[in-house]
Amino acid sequence: MSDLKHIAIIMDGNGRWAKKRDKDRKVGHYFGSENVREIALAALDMDVEVITLYAFSTENWKRPQKEIDYLMKLPAIFFERFLKELNEKGIRVCTIGDLSKIPDRTRKVMHNAVEKTKHNTKLTLNFALNYGSRDEIVRATQRMIDDGVTEVTESLLTSYLDTAGLPDVDLLIRTGGDQRLSNYLLWQLAYSELVFVDMEWPLFGPEAFIKCIDDYQSRQRRFGGL
Ligand code: IPE
Ligand code: IPE
Ligand code: MG
Repeated sequence: MSDLKHIAIIMDGNGRWAKKRDKDRKVGHYFGSENVREIALAALDMDVEVITLYAFSTENWKRPQKEIDYLMKLPAIFFERFLKELNEKGIRVCTIGDLSKIPDRTRKVMHNAVEKTKHNTKLTLNFALNYGSRDEIVRATQRMIDDGVTEVTESLLTSYLDTAGLPDVDLLIRTGGDQRLSNYLLWQLAYSELVFVDMEWPLFGPEAFIKCIDDYQSRQRRFGGL
């Protein structure tokens, strides 16, 4: 599977999944986080190099404080349960997004997971947390100015983005049924294949994931050529 290195996922539909079951949205987020483990292990099996998961957007601060608080607690709950296993399986945890604006406790949990797994080489599990593509491009531009850059090229800008060093995104999957990008990886998705799945994230299992990969494999990528 040499031509499928990087899969980005918009894990959407947790709230609707919970609502249909008459449960609090938090329950949807909890089951959604359990599903991250399933999909990470499936990606590992498929020899994918990187999966980048949209966990919290720069726009998600508009949600009720109670829900934000829970979403900020979720990394601790997730890594408490799964960090050991992910580490043993050779998975490297990474983050993108502006972590300076998330609660200290959440930032520490993320840093700890990144630090503990930094030498792993099997799969990069990249969490987009307080991530927004426009914010990322603005931060990158500001850093270029701070560094005194006078000539901007595509590869230079790419190297200033949070995703620096990662391969281009080959495939974007969005669950939950909506067909939009919601400020996710706008630069990095320039030539990605897009797959929208009409299934809420907690229900999106390895089988559905493999179906998306099969769909990707059946497409012809032309990159503007013939
Ligand atoms: C995605 O599920 C998870 C986050 C945005 C954190 P949602 O919470 O957006 O679920 P829906 O879209 O309301 O169903
Ligand atoms: C995108 O989902 C963000 C994450 C999955 C973290 P949203 O539910 O926030 O997106 P919109 O509001 O439907 O565009
Ligand atoms: Mg949503």
